[in-house]
Amino acid sequence: MTLYADPVRTVSVQLGNRSYAIKIAPGLLQKLGNECARLKLGRRCAIITDTNVGRRFARTACRSLAAAGFEPSLITVPAGETAKSLRSVEQCYDQLAAHRLERKSFIVALGGGVVGDLAGFVAATYLRGIPFVQVPTTLLAQVDSSVGGKTGVNLKAGKNLVGAFYQPRLVLCDLDTLKTLPEREFRAGLAEVIKYGIIYDAPLFARLERDLAGLLRRKPALLAAVVARCCEIKAEVVGQDETESGLRAILNFGHTIGHAIENSSGYGKFLHGEAIAIGQVVESRLSAGLTGLSDGDAGRILDLIKRAGLPYAIKLDAGRRKKLFAAMKLDKKVSDGQVKFVLARRIGKVVWGQPVPVPLIDRVLA
Ligand SMILES: NC(=O)c1ccc[n+]([C@@H]2O[C@H](COP(=O)([O-])OP(=O)(O)OC[C@H]3O[C@@H](n4cnc5c(N)ncnc54)[C@H](O)[C@@H]3O)[C@@H](O)[C@H]2O)c1
Ligand SMILES: [Zn+2]
Repeated sequence: MTLYADPVRTVSVQLGNRSYAIKIAPGLLQKLGNECARLKLGRRCAIITDTNVGRRFARTACRSLAAAGFEPSLITVPAGETAKSLRSVEQCYDQLAAHRLERKSFIVALGGGVVGDLAGFVAATYLRGIPFVQVPTTLLAQVDSSVGGKTGVNLKAGKNLVGAFYQPRLVLCDLDTLKTLPEREFRAGLAEVIKYGIIYDAPLFARLERDLAGLLRRKPALLAAVVARCCEIKAEVVGQDETESGLRAILNFGHTIGHAIENSSGYGKFLHGEAIAIGQVVESRLSAGLTGLSDGDAGRILDLIKRAGLPYAIKLDAGRRKKLFAAMKLDKKVSDGQVKFVLARRIGKVVWGQPVPVPLIDRVLA
């Protein structure tokens, strides 16, 4: 019997001399060292990870790097959103300096979106920028946060208020790492996957409707296909509009309401993906009223989100709705005091920059 190795899917992000590859396959963590060796980087490097991920995967990552001739050091931050702070940034700088990382040295971000955003920002700013490689280990990070170069940390005043656009040199999505991801985190990642179907790819949406059960069981072949397709979409969008002056805004479908829910309900109550699941349901209702989304399509979106085990509604009295509007106006995406939405015309096609009258939002939320 011949055993065939799983094929590696490669998606390229085309950004001129900052272009890079996203590789998707099981078992990539073991190949981290060899993959980095092809990038012609310095010998010294640092893995930034969190306690949950480090415990499971740091050893494999270190060994692979060392076997390829690198000298890795390990920086572990506490798991959770609080690690995305300027305090952690400073602690990382101190450790990089202690390990004498220099201009050609590089950082490996091993973890979910929190680690990726933090490590990316550290890489963007340490010595005015050193190379970094993303090894995302959550579904959300594999399909979304590790691709596209948005890095940053939170302030007390709000999420992601300090940051930089800084592209990684390589993204390695090891599908095996998803095996240990808690169920709730996995489903939250699916909310972003569903988003790609709505904003860009009706066949992907239909595939999710068909294959949801297998995906929830994390069937490797399905995961590989779906993660790769989402990365392709993100790469296409980012390749056309790196710094969000236009098209990239479509990635925010469900996020205007979603961010406001996260903000006004106190961080921690909903995972990001859960908040944007509700956001997508609300924004598809707004789309039905304003951009011609059919009731049929709005119903399919609601159904898929329900079947994925994601929250799809939120009960808000008038007071909490007021708080939510206040949060919406604080969002970075507001310009001239107008809250702009991404709205759907149909599944697979959205338009951005749509003003929505506050009374309509209020009615839909009530
Ligand atoms: N840069 C971007 O474009 C972008 C896009 C979307 C979201 N984000 C950011 O991403 C963050 C959310 O990312 P997230 O959802 O990956 O959260 P996360 O990084 O906090 O990971 C979720 C939890 O899963 C654990 N974990 C990670 N991988 C694991 C694995 N393989 N097995 C077991 N446990 C594992 C983590 O320790 C953590 O407890 C937010 O801060 C958000 O702002 C950034
Ligand atoms: Zn998101």
